[in-house]
Amino acid sequence: MCGIVAYIGHSNALPVLMDGLRRLEYRGYDSAGVAIFDGGQIHLRKSVGRIANLAEEIERNPVSGSIGISHTRWATHGAVTRENAHPHTDKSGRLHLVHNGVIENYQILRDQLIERGHVFHSQTDTEVLAHLVGEAFDRATSRNVASLVEALRQALRQVVGTYGISVVHADVADVIIGARRGSPLVLGIGKNEHFLASDVSAIVAYTRDVVYLNDYEIIALQAEGFEITTVSGNGADYQVSKVEYSADSVDKGHYPHYMLKEIHEQPNSVRDALRGRLCLEEATAKLGGLNMSNADLRSVDRIVLVGCGTAFHAALAGEYLIESLAHIPVECEFASEFRYRNIPLDRDTLVFVVSQSGETADTLAALRESQRKGHRTLGICNNVASTIARESDGGVYMHAGPEIGVAATKSFTSQLTIFALLGLLLGRIRHLSHGEGLEIIASMEKLPDLVARTLLLDAQIAAIAKKYAHSKSFLFMGRQAQFPIALEGALKLKEISYISSSGYPSAELKHGVIALITEEAPSIFIAPRDAVFEKNISNIEEVKARKGPVIAIGTEGDTALAKICDDVILIPDCPHYLTPILSVIPLQLLSYHIAVELGCDVDKPRNLAKSVTVE
Ligand code: F6R
Repeated sequence: MCGIVAYIGHSNALPVLMDGLRRLEYRGYDSAGVAIFDGGQIHLRKSVGRIANLAEEIERNPVSGSIGISHTRWATHGAVTRENAHPHTDKSGRLHLVHNGVIENYQILRDQLIERGHVFHSQTDTEVLAHLVGEAFDRATSRNVASLVEALRQALRQVVGTYGISVVHADVADVIIGARRGSPLVLGIGKNEHFLASDVSAIVAYTRDVVYLNDYEIIALQAEGFEITTVSGNGADYQVSKVEYSADSVDKGHYPHYMLKEIHEQPNSVRDALRGRLCLEEATAKLGGLNMSNADLRSVDRIVLVGCGTAFHAALAGEYLIESLAHIPVECEFASEFRYRNIPLDRDTLVFVVSQSGETADTLAALRESQRKGHRTLGICNNVASTIARESDGGVYMHAGPEIGVAATKSFTSQLTIFALLGLLLGRIRHLSHGEGLEIIASMEKLPDLVARTLLLDAQIAAIAKKYAHSKSFLFMGRQAQFPIALEGALKLKEISYISSSGYPSAELKHGVIALITEEAPSIFIAPRDAVFEKNISNIEEVKARKGPVIAIGTEGDTALAKICDDVILIPDCPHYLTPILSVIPLQLLSYHIAVELGCDVDKPRNLAKSVTVE
């Protein structure tokens, strides 16, 4: 959570920082600040609210200079106030520091610092770091880059927790120092200029040559070069990577919101998840990144899928997909539970962690816990440079392209597509014949076009959204693989429109949920033509008998739903195990249009941020 951008070079730092902050706003957006060195001193500007507020503050009170650090905050410790916004300063007021992460032992450190005469101006854990570094630097006999780096090292050795940080000091005016542990930090290499950011999207407009820092690394950036060392004082090897995507791919294009753009990108993102992974000759899927032979895969007798939020819902849908194609038992675990639960895992259990960002703290901790127990743990990630992608023992990339909208959309359908590929691969090693494999491949190849056809329902769904937007609550219901889709539909709606909504297996209705049915509370049933269609119809009747409005997602050609439901959205027909990839799309669009209708900030919903890098 939180975003950092820093610049050192010969140009004006401010436009680079402000542009980068706007691109990182999805990581946190409750307050923001910059510290700019103008050659003589460091100027601080902070404001509560969006980056636009900070821009106004700077317009009133201009700053310029060719060295600067900046931050957009998602509050963890301390309320959303100007005092708690970063950058924070040390006792001398000459050191400025921005931080992403959580310092767990900050209270003890703060008490000790107060005893030593330090005065605090915020409630944040971050301010402790600024004071620790400043104190160590003030003890140093020289005031140069090496002593500032050493001061940072001394400070970091005292803290417990996670950090991505960036520091400037008015006494060593030609350097920016950064460090990471648990919170991403990437160096951008330019010509006589360097950048530091939490995410490449902040700097890709300026350079595509980057170095992803590892945990416990410290970087000293100057206009003409950089040096990477470790917290323990050793030199560090690094690799320069090329960012594959351009600045354009992180723009909204002609769409009013990232979320809508990303929903409409799904024909391509699903195609990209499949690309090069379907093998007609062997009638199977090829997933080389798993780093496992067919013999290894043959011995897997249980799969555990771990994730948070939307990724967890994808895992639940993946359970149905893998079990129906490969007949291997699958269990799903919230990463936050898995990491502390001590779940029994035997030798032939394969663990997958699922994460769009690859940086979610709980999912990363689950990966490490599973590996600590000696389990082969694979990742399903979108961000190829992420910590999870790097630390897992192999896995499958989503190739969905950058997802900026805080509400996950295209990453969800990419995750489902990958589970379908896994199901095919594992099924073909077991009971699926060559012919059955070919049939599944043929269906999967049609998916991108079916996704495109489903998106044509956008206008119809916008009209339905208008009709129901002012409802106080929604229920989402589905059976079998559509139950996770009901959960995902409810999550999408509540996170961007703040309407209370929940998802249930349709049959659970009569076990309590039915008490919520009123004329004002619409129910959304995901009821494609499948083996449980008639069962869903019975549940819909139960709602209608109590005068509850019903919106149904059905299959093209169906006429039964229209007879009993208030509104019907018909999606293309496809095999039942692939239907969730289509049925979630109307729910994404419905929540999007309802949120727009209510005037909500779709891409930056309140209290949320993409990539939850704190526990
Ligand atoms: C919901 C949403 C979150 C994320 C969750 C996991 O729209 O975006 O629930 O799905 O925070 O994030 P990743 O997949 O990055 O681990």
